[in-house]
Amino acid sequence: MRLKGEDISFGYKKNNLILNEVNISLKSGEVLGLIGDSGSGKSTLCKILSGYENMYQGNVTIDGKKIPLNRYNPVQLVFQHPEKAVNPKWKMKDILNEGHEVSNKILGSFGIKQAWLNRWPNELSGGELQRFALARALGPQTKFLIADEITTMVDAITQAQIWSTIIDISEEQNIGVLVVSHEKKLIDKLCHEVIYLDDINTA
Ligand SMILES: Nc1ncnc2c1ncn2[C@@H]1O[C@H](COP(=O)(O)OP(=O)(O)O)[C@@H](O)[C@H]1O
Ligand SMILES: [Mg+2]
Repeated sequence: MRLKGEDISFGYKKNNLILNEVNISLKSGEVLGLIGDSGSGKSTLCKILSGYENMYQGNVTIDGKKIPLNRYNPVQLVFQHPEKAVNPKWKMKDILNEGHEVSNKILGSFGIKQAWLNRWPNELSGGELQRFALARALGPQTKFLIADEITTMVDAITQAQIWSTIIDISEEQNIGVLVVSHEKKLIDKLCHEVIYLDDINTA
């Protein structure tokens, strides 16, 4: 499978393009890095690729077909602030299993402790919460993971653990991963190939 963004142009305000004619392509099983300065439009592109922003020009497709919005999204976005991705009034076990039942194997591989399942989101650290967001995002129907600065808030050891789990699961499930970061070192370690947003964006 191939996820493609073709000729993507977008601005939050009229006559102020953030992205201009951007082309990007990610295939199953690939780990692709995307680097760019802060404010260069990385998160905006991530939202467009995963269906969170629909006002863009251009096309986002999987194998040439538009991605249907009314069912499980095969392109899952995980971003820097997991606390913004969860309902603060729900216990972790309900947040986790909202879309599908997450397997104990996945929970174990992310080091999620059973006791955490009965907690509220504000009773977990950012890194712990991010493990839940990832366990939830890497479901059996997920084909692509858009990882937007997902380990910026954790220490180096936790970062390495989380990424090794993501890479294992992605290999097993043949998921394509877009690793978005400003950390060149991390991208060099993880990715088969690296793209600089500035090189594909003329805005
Ligand atoms: N919701 C928004 N409304 C208006 N401007 C925004 C919004 N989100 C981001 N921007 C602006 O768009 C530009 C690109 O932001 P972003 O995609 O978040 O960049 P990056 O992820 O590379 O740091 C920045 O100048 C930012 O201030
Ligand atoms: Mg960003």
